[in-house]
Amino acid sequence: MAQRTLSRYLTEEQRHKEVITGDLKLLLEVAARACKAISIAIGKGALGGDGGVLGEAGSDNIQGEAQKKLDVLSNEILLEANEWGGHLAAMASEEMDLPHLVPNRFPKGEYLLTFDPLDGSSNIDVNVSIGTIFSVLKCPEGADLSTPEAAAKAFLQPGTAQVAAGYAVYGPTTLLVLSVGDGVVVFTLDREHGHFVMTRENVRIPEETAEFAINMSNRRFWEAPVQRYVDDMTAGRQGPLGKDYNMRWVASMVADVHRIMTRGGIFMYPMDEKLRAKGGKLRLMYEANPMAFLIEQAGGAASTGRQRILDLVPHDLHQRVPVILGSRREVERAVGYHST
Ligand code: AHG
Ligand code: MN
Ligand code: MN
Repeated sequence: MAQRTLSRYLTEEQRHKEVITGDLKLLLEVAARACKAISIAIGKGALGGDGGVLGEAGSDNIQGEAQKKLDVLSNEILLEANEWGGHLAAMASEEMDLPHLVPNRFPKGEYLLTFDPLDGSSNIDVNVSIGTIFSVLKCPEGADLSTPEAAAKAFLQPGTAQVAAGYAVYGPTTLLVLSVGDGVVVFTLDREHGHFVMTRENVRIPEETAEFAINMSNRRFWEAPVQRYVDDMTAGRQGPLGKDYNMRWVASMVADVHRIMTRGGIFMYPMDEKLRAKGGKLRLMYEANPMAFLIEQAGGAASTGRQRILDLVPHDLHQRVPVILGSRREVERAVGYHST
């Protein structure tokens, strides 16, 4: 049987199911092409041009974090790939203070794209899985796009308004995981032919799990409900939850989320005392929202502990939020600890 490529899947979603527009199809194909280019750059590692692609860029981003060369390169690849196609009004990124407006020499489209160009930066230099996360919104009618400052307001829509979201994982294989609101599909990069081939469809996350992911070194800074919940999990079979849990922490959200997409689990980056002034660790617009959309599309759940992530109304492009997501029943259990 003929392989189902990403292009074919998107064509079917457009032509037969009418779930997406032609412009959204183009946007997603271009985003996938950019992920392919990032995957190729990462694959070169220390052999990449100009001293390799590993190491520090020597600059800080808006969050005050030191940028790696690959953070900057991935951001440039995504901007350049997406600005000329006529399907976008503006783009926002973890690595840019303000949105990037489509230059006047190109036509403007009706979509907004946000991305975390390179997720898991601390894993670049140690050759552990990293990724790209992206989210697509519609640009509100009549939005002021005259300046980047004005355009930032157009992005401040709740996660429920996303029309598509996805991530690429650059691991032993490069995968693209995508949802256009019609379930979750997984594509594997065929490096010889240079295209993405569908390798899983209708992804469903098991409702129950006995595997959790959290950075345990922050335990003393967590809020009481999260401390109690994790204590109960680590108490194992003899504890109140009556089962032995296993723990994993890759420190790349994409890799931890992808494990959950594959075999279930719960992922948490909760509020902690060090992060309180910032609102949390993970960014709402280009980390929490796209991942929450994908997780819900696969039958899982995503919460701050007190609220569904997709219902949050953002007030800032780079806003941070506590994140608890994964297998539905386990997330409900974690949320339950916050109300007792
Ligand atoms: P980024 O590299 O885009 O800044 O994101 C890193 C995030 C996320 O991917 C991961 O889950 C988390 O930071 C890891 O944090 P710790 O280093 O505190 O474990
Ligand atoms: Mn990230
Ligand atoms: Mn990043």
